[in-house]
Amino acid sequence: MPDIKDVDTSEWGTFKDSLKAPVHRWFTYPAGFSYKAAEYSFNKAGLSGDSTVYDPFMGSGTTNLAAKTMGINSLGVEAHPFVFPIARCKMNWSIDETATRQHLKNLQDLTEQDQISSACKEEIVSREFPELVVKCFLPETLYELMIIRNYIRKISDDNIRLFLNTALICSLRIVSIAATGWPYIAPKKIKITSYSKKGLNSYLEFVDKMFDDLSVVNFIYGGTRSEHRIFQADCRDTTDIITNESVDHIFTSPPYLNNFDYADRTRLEMYFMGDAKNWKDICQKVRTQLITSATTQINRGDDKYQFTHEFANTNPEEYEFLKNVVNQLSELRLHKGGKKSYDLLVIGYFNDLYQVLKDNYRVLKTGGRAEYILGDSAPYGVHIPTDEIIGKIGCNIGFSNCRIELLRTRGDKWKDNPQRHNVHLRETIVSLTK
Ligand SMILES: C[S@@+](CC[C@H](N)C(=O)[O-])C[C@H]1O[C@@H](n2cnc3c(N)ncnc32)[C@H](O)[C@@H]1O
Repeated sequence: MPDIKDVDTSEWGTFKDSLKAPVHRWFTYPAGFSYKAAEYSFNKAGLSGDSTVYDPFMGSGTTNLAAKTMGINSLGVEAHPFVFPIARCKMNWSIDETATRQHLKNLQDLTEQDQISSACKEEIVSREFPELVVKCFLPETLYELMIIRNYIRKISDDNIRLFLNTALICSLRIVSIAATGWPYIAPKKIKITSYSKKGLNSYLEFVDKMFDDLSVVNFIYGGTRSEHRIFQADCRDTTDIITNESVDHIFTSPPYLNNFDYADRTRLEMYFMGDAKNWKDICQKVRTQLITSATTQINRGDDKYQFTHEFANTNPEEYEFLKNVVNQLSELRLHKGGKKSYDLLVIGYFNDLYQVLKDNYRVLKTGGRAEYILGDSAPYGVHIPTDEIIGKIGCNIGFSNCRIELLRTRGDKWKDNPQRHNVHLRETIVSLTK
């Protein structure tokens, strides 16, 4: 087993590797990490078929999928109501292909029989969808996508419905004529290459790709048996779903303290699917479920943004350090155009991660390891060494040992960010042993 220093870890914190791997690649999750990082971690920990790994911030399921390919049992928790089903779909490798293809044939017949004029289609989609969605697609394409969506809704088989729905979600940005790059959508920037892409054709191609991937993973890993239980839940407290000392290894990546809004990431998809109609819906359905990691989640009038007594008492040194950071940020924001609530963000973030670490400690077996891919940050240029603070909080909670290993230095990634600064940032793995 090579030492981590001898491995190229520069892309472990990104989704690049996963976008080239079967099944992992279905949904482009900019917050995702490399399946290679998970595999390395499992091998290093010497996990076997009897072991159970847990990812409290499961996202699109990279850790759990990697575990499945290696025949290791897994648990996963994800609070984002739109991302969770994508992970669920990726973890199910047995889909009735004959029945699914019959549905696709029905869909083709349905669109071929359609006699509605272009003007009518345009009218229908402009009534059906929020403006953002209308601006992101050619009317004919959007109309076809809507026919597919409506057909899928009526499929009674849960597995097939989820599979075909996931394909539709994953096809949306492929056929969109807007620059739907990550994380934000720019409807005014036009993507010429998508003009020739038809809704149904691209969708059918995507479904084929998913079936190809399932053939590959079933052929290579189909013989390995393991159990996977995943939950749409809040990882700050999993007492109802995960028993004490039942997990051998934790591998995860919490949201970074970098103002990336996970709720905004799926806005286009949620609007299209009819799961949300406006910002208010997105806030209620997504933002309130997630740990604090973006200023868009914060209402300054809310008095919950204070360090809890428990946090301050358990982590006196980290509390003093962070109080100082918060004071600096409260002062700095007054002189900045956006007046961003980074000060309250820091409080909410560490209060929440403290709860997560405590819960992780509870579920882990003695001798087990919890590994966190983390990025530090520098809001308004004030450096916050998230990895070191998390390591120390872990030790205050009871973990016996903390090790921090560098994956890469970063910073250039944020060069388009109007809040840019000159602080050198890094991505690391923090390993805590119980
Ligand atoms: C950095 S991403 C993890 C991505 C994952 N490693 C992957 O490859 O797809 C962090 C995830 O944590 C989720 N999350 C945020 N707050 C949560 C909470 N309270 N409980 C569970 N999941 C949460 C976010 O929705 C997001 O999907």
